[in-house]
Amino acid sequence: MTDIPSKAPITDPMSSGARTRRDFLYIATAAMGTVGVAASIVPMIAQLEPDKATLAAGGPVELDLTQVQAGQQVVVHWRGHPIFVVNRPAAALKMLQNPKLVERLSDPQSKEFQQPQYAQNWHRSAKPEYGVFVGICTHLGCIPLYYPNPSASAPVSDWLGGYFCPCHGSKYDLAGRVFSGVPAPYNLPVPPYRFVNDHKIRIGENPPDSHFSFESIRQI
Ligand code: FES
Repeated sequence: MTDIPSKAPITDPMSSGARTRRDFLYIATAAMGTVGVAASIVPMIAQLEPDKATLAAGGPVELDLTQVQAGQQVVVHWRGHPIFVVNRPAAALKMLQNPKLVERLSDPQSKEFQQPQYAQNWHRSAKPEYGVFVGICTHLGCIPLYYPNPSASAPVSDWLGGYFCPCHGSKYDLAGRVFSGVPAPYNLPVPPYRFVNDHKIRIGENPPDSHFSFESIRQI
């Protein structure tokens, strides 16, 4: 496998230099309206609203998980990033452990530093049923689309369920693990988060025993 730099070059997007990953991210953000329409079947519910000062400071946001039914995904925003929160039913968890899927993944054991230690496991999460990911493709920054169900033909042939990036065809499973042979080099990042209780998570805050720093992940 070709060596990949730890960070793609980031330059001033207003300068006249060559296009960078961040330039593409700006374009992708501008195109989110279209993506939002295409993904309108995905429930979008509001998180418990933090106050404006908390949002401005990029502080934690909370989500009531009772609003996320099995098989559904919701998107909340933290530090300006879309955060995917998915409730994975038993069949989806079984698929995540299926050798037919695992053998097709680039980093099935999450060895690259793209998640906190409490998500370095086969389900890449603090609890198996709930996945929490930064919804930004690790190739050039598009927003991957949610296709949870296996399909023979959609969005591509022999689909096993997960996320599909429409920009250049990168594929991730329902744990945000990237497939081999696609443009995206890394698994989707996992933000810091913790369970406040059985039904509520706080995104942007580690459990008390963790010192995970989101700034030190390999790539967002
Ligand atoms: S941005 Fe290129 S495949 Fe996602």
